[in-house]
Amino acid sequence: MRALSGIDETQARTCLDRKAFLFGHTLEAHPAMSLANLAEVIPALPANQVFHSNGRLQNGDDFDNAHNLHRPEESLAQALEQLRTTDAYIMVRQPEVHASFKPLYDALCADVARMATAAGLPPVVDDAMLYLFLASPGSVTPFHIDRYSTCLMQVRGHKEVVVYPPWDPRVVADRDTEQFFARTGDRPPWRPEAEPLGERFAFSPGQALHIPFAAGHHVRNGDDDVSISVSIIFKTAESRRLMRALLFNQRARRWLSRVGMEPRRVAMGAPGVATKAGLWNAARGIASVLGARGVA
Ligand SMILES: [Fe+2]
Repeated sequence: MRALSGIDETQARTCLDRKAFLFGHTLEAHPAMSLANLAEVIPALPANQVFHSNGRLQNGDDFDNAHNLHRPEESLAQALEQLRTTDAYIMVRQPEVHASFKPLYDALCADVARMATAAGLPPVVDDAMLYLFLASPGSVTPFHIDRYSTCLMQVRGHKEVVVYPPWDPRVVADRDTEQFFARTGDRPPWRPEAEPLGERFAFSPGQALHIPFAAGHHVRNGDDDVSISVSIIFKTAESRRLMRALLFNQRARRWLSRVGMEPRRVAMGAPGVATKAGLWNAARGIASVLGARGVA
């Protein structure tokens, strides 16, 4: 069974992790995505896989531990009704640990592997996981980048997704990308002047959108209905190489700044990425042999 549809192989080859593109999916008809199944799965998952926020949360609240919206006595229908009337969202990480999601997960992994093959990459997708998002009408996901490649699938409601070109320093400065991947706690700031560079997608049920690795994006749900969407996030051999090169650059930038220099940038297609990734791997190997700490 294919979960994704309408993927143009030429588009996958030229655009995977380079440019956002739309295609289709069949998730609305999948039994895992029925409201009855979601109502069974979400409360049954470990609490640390279900996150929520609502309008009552303030900036600085302990968001990760504020997942009490789905109390066991509360039905999903009630929770969805709350979503309709309050500014809230529910995010579920790795629903595939529930048996009902495993076939969907396997089908999506196979489809994503086909995209990687079309792009000339090894048909291996690492660290693939699903996320479910249930969000209020009008709710906003602010600008951010992710450490994965993404395929986002809209199942209910509408949204506008704005995706920015990856590796464009007018959107995210090279240093900010490196800091983000090194998990220093810094997040790339939103630059309002980058707004015209974004590509806008009006996103409806049945549509899927590829968001390239490290591409900035923000989302606004439509005002008409609760939004339900699913994403599969994954890494490829190419994104892993870029990630290691970014970690190398983050360290190198620190050292070189002491002598007034900076490293050559890491970006898709930039020279030196494979070498930096290899050096980072070698450093990790040496550190693990020596039992050293502090090398990610
Ligand atoms: Fe994202």
